[in-house]
Amino acid sequence: MNLKINPILKKNQIKPIMKRDTMVEDKLVDRLEQKRDKQRIKKKRKKEERMATGGVFDKYTTENINKLRVKGIIKEFVGIISAGKEANVYFAIGEEDKPLAVKIYKIDPQNTKWMKNYIIGDPRFKKIGNSTHKIIYTWSKKEFKNLKQLHRHNIPVPEPIFCVNNIVLMEYIGEKNGSPAPRLKDVNPLPEPVKIFLKVIQYIEDMYLIANLVHGDLSEYNILYWNDEPIIIDVSQAVSTYHVNAPVFLKRDLINVFNFFGDYLNEKTIGTVDTLYSKIMKAYHNK
Ligand SMILES: Nc1ncnc2c1ncn2[C@@H]1O[C@H](COP(=O)(O)OP(=O)(O)OP(=O)(O)O)[C@@H](O)[C@H]1O
Ligand SMILES: [Mg+2]
Repeated sequence: MNLKINPILKKNQIKPIMKRDTMVEDKLVDRLEQKRDKQRIKKKRKKEERMATGGVFDKYTTENINKLRVKGIIKEFVGIISAGKEANVYFAIGEEDKPLAVKIYKIDPQNTKWMKNYIIGDPRFKKIGNSTHKIIYTWSKKEFKNLKQLHRHNIPVPEPIFCVNNIVLMEYIGEKNGSPAPRLKDVNPLPEPVKIFLKVIQYIEDMYLIANLVHGDLSEYNILYWNDEPIIIDVSQAVSTYHVNAPVFLKRDLINVFNFFGDYLNEKTIGTVDTLYSKIMKAYHNK
């Protein structure tokens, strides 16, 4: 069998194919390089994120964070502010370089049982489902809604920015370098305690009578101190005043606040839990 290729055919047919091949190859190499670059950037980002977040996210949370990144809602994760039992809070940079607090709830079935007590009975949340995911997502939505409701009624809380599944984005309160505002508990000694006490009491009353919410976990741990003002945080468990336990939560909040300020002030200056509780309840029923 003669396998010799005709030289003319070689000249006319093989060479042009070779030329096209080089162009295609160049393009392919370019594309491959671009792909590798993208992968390198993605890997670097993931590494930075892991370093900033402690690498604790489950698959769904990672996907949601990526979506927020793609949309430009989160530009950069800077670091962790707080690691708690139910949630971690991160310092991040958002749109227009706005500093953000990103609260990410853990998808942990251990938390859902007690959370249900603060969801069921709140008329704003009727269908919550039974899966851990659904309950935690409702919980995050609840914090976001509560922030909106309080912010709308001028109660000083971080401004709510965005919420998706188990992630709540809000205004970050603190130094631009990432040091968050201290909690009331950490301010020692507290300057102008009477002024701060009166403000906090006024906010509890306004929450109940104007915003129709009760915090339910108010204490020196959930009040930040920033620019000489108290800022209320951690409002996920706050319930509507229609909730059957709202009066109990109100009393508990008052007791916590009175206990904290009791170290600074005497009973004459601050009055008593019972008188204030009765005053708020009376005003509520006369509304
Ligand atoms: N918007 C914010 N700006 C700055 N720091 C914040 C903000 N929100 C929360 N933090 C910080 O994160 C900490 C935990 O937040 P938060 O109280 O909302 O969560 P938590 O679920 O109660 O967490 P923990 O279990 O640690 O109490 C706060 O004590 C505060 O230091
Ligand atoms: Mg807290």
